[in-house]
Amino acid sequence: MKNKWALITGASSGIGKELAIVHARKGGNLVLIARRERELQELKDFLIRDYGIAVCIFPIDLTESGAIPKLIRFTEEQGIHVDVLMNNAGFGAFGLFADSQIARNSNMVDLNIKVLIELTHALIPGMKSRGSGYIFNTASTAGFLPGPWQATYFATKAFVLSFTEALAYELKDSGISVTALCPGPVKTEFEKVAGMEGGKLFDQAMSAKLTAERGYRAMERKKVIFISDYPLVFPLRFLLPFIPKRWQAAIIFRVQKM
Ligand SMILES: NC(=O)c1ccc[n+]([C@@H]2O[C@H](COP(=O)([O-])OP(=O)(O)OC[C@H]3O[C@@H](n4cnc5c(N)ncnc54)[C@H](OP(=O)(O)O)[C@@H]3O)[C@@H](O)[C@H]2O)c1
Repeated sequence: MKNKWALITGASSGIGKELAIVHARKGGNLVLIARRERELQELKDFLIRDYGIAVCIFPIDLTESGAIPKLIRFTEEQGIHVDVLMNNAGFGAFGLFADSQIARNSNMVDLNIKVLIELTHALIPGMKSRGSGYIFNTASTAGFLPGPWQATYFATKAFVLSFTEALAYELKDSGISVTALCPGPVKTEFEKVAGMEGGKLFDQAMSAKLTAERGYRAMERKKVIFISDYPLVFPLRFLLPFIPKRWQAAIIFRVQKM
């Protein structure tokens, strides 16, 4: 990855920040995206100081109108060819759908889905012309099943999984690999943003650092769907397909209420 440019969304905290550190450790350059400028600037200063790589930051709300063209224009003006696209920015919200704010649900669909496909669509042509590239989508184990209490969030991640598998197939002869990282619970700001603090779900959560390291390795190995929380691999891959969706929903309803 030496000298390769990675563009990471959601780089100001959590998994995205750790993905940036892994890429920097490999000698890669970075375009860091999120809304909070101060966090991005601090990360940039640290990465330049410790790894001597090139880092650009572009603070922006990716869901605002025209954000993706603005971001693409920025990379072009900087003369940056994005070799690694990491679609990582995303959030969840805990609560029953009927009681939730529709604007928050729509904003979640915009960030978790619309931004991801628009950025991917904008950057594939450059990767294709160079005959190489990596597209990395932070999905979730939530993408494997319906998720009462977080109905919209689970559905957005199901989209990301389906999209990743289809795109990986479409691009299989292009030199571009497509990977979806599927973490279980991870200790980040996600828990607070989703309004899930105080629950038991995050008691056994993995660290963002380990999640990012495993995910990055899976991307280098061109894995399409990668579950980073190893104890969840067997139940998700081998038991879940035999459990009716209605039962899956009932299990998640109980688990998330804890
Ligand atoms: N933590 C978990 O348990 C878990 C499990 C499975 C999957 N995931 C997925 O992992 C990804 C990263 O989440 P995380 O756990 O690392 O949570 P996090 O610490 O809250 O990170 C989310 C990142 O997204 C950025 N972001 C949020 N809204 C944005 C917007 N409108 N425009 C631009 N950037 C925005 C945030 O930065 P700003 O606030 O500065 O904008 C932040 O950098 C998400 O896709 C999440 O769904 C998380």
